[in-house]
Formats: sequence, structure tokens, C-alpha cells
Amino acid sequence: MSRKFMLFVALAVWQLPLAAWAATSDDEGGGRTPDVVYVGTPSDVVTKMLDLAEVTKEDVLYDLGCGDGRIVVRAAKLYGCRAIGYDINPVRVRESLENIQRNNVQDLVTVQRRDVFTVDLTPATVVTLYLLPEMNARLIPQLQELKPGSRIVAHDYGIRGVTPDKTITMDSKVDGVPHYLYVYTTPLKLRKKPLVDDDEP
Ligand SMILES: C[S@@+](CC[C@H](N)C(=O)[O-])C[C@H]1O[C@@H](n2cnc3c(N)ncnc32)[C@H](O)[C@@H]1O
Repeated sequence: MSRKFMLFVALAVWQLPLAAWAATSDDEGGGRTPDVVYVGTPSDVVTKMLDLAEVTKEDVLYDLGCGDGRIVVRAAKLYGCRAIGYDINPVRVRESLENIQRNNVQDLVTVQRRDVFTVDLTPATVVTLYLLPEMNARLIPQLQELKPGSRIVAHDYGIRGVTPDKTITMDSKVDGVPHYLYVYTTPLKLRKKPLVDDDEP
């Protein structure tokens, strides 16, 4: 297990009380606790993810667990595409809405408070993920519903049991650490038997 993964899990456990508070403090949807804490993707990694996904103006990008909305906002600003973010935490949704206003991309970007496991992904042509490995694996049935030729870019953890088209490592100038990016196109290339280190850098 990588040190980065252990840090991610440790942060998740440490922040559980905070997450529970956040989910109930401004709650419209049942107070479900986030499955993972918020860690933002560094800006240069965001740009690389969009580049790897070969985003165009015609795309509809979904960021599942959108945090402060940095990926959806950047996609709209760079490529002029429509982008939709989903996050279960109302604090993150509020931050995303502020981010959208600040960047004046209200016409292209929307953010909704939703549990990613209940979202219909069929309108999306690009999906970005920065979630825990077991969450990526749990999303497979939804990701399989994407139209053929859709692209999925996963940050730091791949999709267990699915062969990526491309895997790259980049050193971010923002945080100075390596980041691992996994690119998939649909239909997904499912493996019969997941590799032991399938979702690890
Ligand atoms: C690691 S952050 C990634 C944020 C953003 N995508 C980025 O790359 O900067 C994961 C986000 O997923 C959200 N999240 C956790 N469980 C979720 C769930 N079941 N449904 C929707 N969002 C969830 C968290 O609130 C958090 O903002």
C-alpha cells in the first residue's frame, strides 16, 4: 500500500466527525457522510487530466465528487464545454457555486449535491475521478452505461479490474509530489481477475 494512499485513508478517518457535521449542517438530502474527505487536485494536474481526456467544446464533463469545483470550472474556461459536478458535502457544493460565480461560467457549469452512486452518467462524455479505489470499483456499473468513446480520467487510483488505455505519472509543480493518472475509454476493458496492485500507483 503506497504512503499517499495511507495518508488519504488516514485523513478520511480523522475527518469523519467533521464530515458528519458538514453533511448534516446544511442538509437537503439525508445527511449521508462523505465516503472520502476533500483533497483538491493541484491545478497543473487538473490541466493534464483535461488534456488526457482530449476534451472539446462538444463534450459534457462530469466530475464525481467535485470538491470546490476546480475541474468543472477549468474545463468550461479552457474548452467551453458543459460541465457538471456532484458532491455529497454541502460545504463543497457551496464552494463550487462560489467558484462558478467568481469565474463567470454559470452558463456552462452546474453543481449539485448528490451521492455519486445515484447519478445517471449516460449524458456524460468525459468523467473525472479523484476518489478512493473501492469507490472507483463501485462505480463500474454506472461507468459501463457511458456512450462508446467516452473518456474517464482517474487521479491517483485507477479502476480496479479495468485495463487503462494509458497510465502516466507527473510531478506537480504545485505540491512537488508525483501524481498518477489513469485514462480509460468506453467500452471499459474489464479484466476477469483484478491484479493485486490494480488501483495502486
Ligand atoms: C478527493 S476529493 C476530490 C475533489 C475534486 N474532484 C478534485 O479533484 O479536486 C473527493 C470529493 O468527493 C466527495 N465525496 C465523497 N463521497 C461522496 C459521495 N458518495 N458522493 C458525492 N461526493 C462524495 C467529497 O466531499 C470530496 O469533495
